[in-house]
Amino acid sequence: MIIHLLRDSAALGELAARHVEVAMLETRDQVLGVATGSTPESTYAALSRRAARGTFRTDRLCVFALDEYIGLPRDHPQCYRKVLERSLSEPLGIEPSRIHVPTDDGGSRSASAAKFEEAIVEAGGVHVQILGIGRNGHIGFNEPGSDFHSTTRVVKLAESTRRANSRFFGSIEDVPPRAMSQGLATIMRSRRLMLMAVGAEKAEPIARALAGAVSPALPASVLQRHARLTVYLDRAAATRLDLDAIRSIATVHDWS
Ligand code: GLP
Repeated sequence: MIIHLLRDSAALGELAARHVEVAMLETRDQVLGVATGSTPESTYAALSRRAARGTFRTDRLCVFALDEYIGLPRDHPQCYRKVLERSLSEPLGIEPSRIHVPTDDGGSRSASAAKFEEAIVEAGGVHVQILGIGRNGHIGFNEPGSDFHSTTRVVKLAESTRRANSRFFGSIEDVPPRAMSQGLATIMRSRRLMLMAVGAEKAEPIARALAGAVSPALPASVLQRHARLTVYLDRAAATRLDLDAIRSIATVHDWS
């Protein structure tokens, strides 16, 4: 595990974007896994600047999202496909057909989940997966209790997740109760993982995820088992980590 400590979200985004760009040079299949939420926005903005400068090539880039709400109209501004169009495909010039989102397409949900899993395999597997973390330790929409062997499926959102995400909606009642999410096994199959967190409310889940017991009670803790995990934290998100202790299992780079 490698941990980068950054001054703020902007510095985090710059470094993470540089690492995405370098990692994509290792692979012919340019498959990027992306998260929604506010944390990766600075990385997407930095990637857009790199694409505009011509250092980050997006002509073969293919993108897989972690999750999507169930029940939102396709043109709803909080529909994750729409969010990704605004923050990624438009600024990076990626055709919408190369953005894959696990979706309830009106037919059998297990069939569309299986189709999404197949599409990842057909694309060559995710090379770099960007991840945020929920306040309860969720990744994607894998809430506490999620099976480490889970693949893409319909999930029920925790009350606390709906409350946290209500800031993007009018009220908690407007946040859909269910979503389709990549599973923890799907995420763990990515060749490289980049976990990012910003702000004091992420300090506890980050400390538990990186240095606590590996348990479905805190889904992000499964990431300790990944051979190529890089973590990007601002100062506030790192405050609960025992940096001396974690140096025995991780390389820590302090840029803050
Ligand atoms: C949502 C998403 C997650 C994201 C999390 C944290 O629930 N499904 O993928 O990591 O929120 O979001 P934020 O970065 O806004 O704190």
